[in-house]
Amino acid sequence: MSSDVKPTKGSPVKSVDMHVGEIVPGVPKKDPIIVADHVTRTFGGLTAVDVDHVEIPRNAITALIGPNGAGKTTFFNLLTGFDKPDTGKWTFMGKSLAGIPSFRVARLGQVRTFQLTKALSLLTVLDNMKLGAKGQKGENMFVALLPWLWRKQEEEIEAKAMELLARFKLDTKAEDYAASLSGGQRKLLEMARALMSDPTLVMLDEPMAGVNPALTQSLLDHILDLKTQGMTVLFVEHDMQMVRHIADWVIVMAEGKIVAEGPPDAVMSNPAVIDAYLGSHHDQDLGEDPDQEKENVNAIKELLDADDKS
Ligand SMILES: Nc1ncnc2c1ncn2[C@@H]1O[C@H](COP(=O)(O)OP(=O)(O)OP(=O)(O)O)[C@@H](O)[C@H]1O
Ligand SMILES: [Mg+2]
Repeated sequence: MSSDVKPTKGSPVKSVDMHVGEIVPGVPKKDPIIVADHVTRTFGGLTAVDVDHVEIPRNAITALIGPNGAGKTTFFNLLTGFDKPDTGKWTFMGKSLAGIPSFRVARLGQVRTFQLTKALSLLTVLDNMKLGAKGQKGENMFVALLPWLWRKQEEEIEAKAMELLARFKLDTKAEDYAASLSGGQRKLLEMARALMSDPTLVMLDEPMAGVNPALTQSLLDHILDLKTQGMTVLFVEHDMQMVRHIADWVIVMAEGKIVAEGPPDAVMSNPAVIDAYLGSHHDQDLGEDPDQEKENVNAIKELLDADDKS
């Protein structure tokens, strides 16, 4: 796997040798941050998630890929407490998380963004950021009774929010309503807001979807930065160029199951992955733009072509 190290200028340095033993779906990791077992979620007769075993490596960037309807978002919802599984358990940093509600999951250091952004349109950008801070005033009765304490805390939260907004080039929009932002800026706002709580694990559901190409490079850099700062990233993405560029490890879901995993180059030349993408589900429209989906399929085809040439 050491051939994966690409310390060349402009290429991110990949984390390698994170697994133990043969690379098969569910392969153990040397230092997992999440370990999930027998996680299932059904909707009526449909099994959306059926994950037997999966481990997410710590301080690395893992991409969760798979065709529309594979169960990626549902799995995110389960891991972050936004939905409840039918069966299964999982740990985050060794702590059992099954049945823990989303706000507590976030407080434990595991935050996520949404495929359809959840920025609150009628709040300003700055107020959206403040919602992401943990341990806010008023949550603690004692602190709420001592205004000089919460005023100081409020100032610190605001300073932190402004610093993050500057990093994401949204500081000039701090007082604007979130409704006035473009789709891409909302994605950036959601990511910036997630960082307000100093998370350990950042989970991003399609961070690039709807983002103007002019913003994509900076978004990629922000994600790479998270790893440099010691965080772990798990992201869902259909853009295979991006996955190949920034992911240290790729996990493939199809029909609720983990069908493959491994370093990006190996996974993307794996026949099971090609089947998962180009099989019967690739043209299923689940509310996504069908042109986008066609683009995704084309991007994968391009990658496969690139593989053939290398
Ligand atoms: N709340 C729900 N009620 C009923 N069915 C649902 C619900 N949420 C998801 N599903 C179904 O579960 C399956 C998995 O959906 P999910 O959104 O997790 O897929 P995904 O991999 O995130 O897809 P995409 O790439 O399109 O975002 C789909 O068949 C979907 O229709
Ligand atoms: Mg999804």
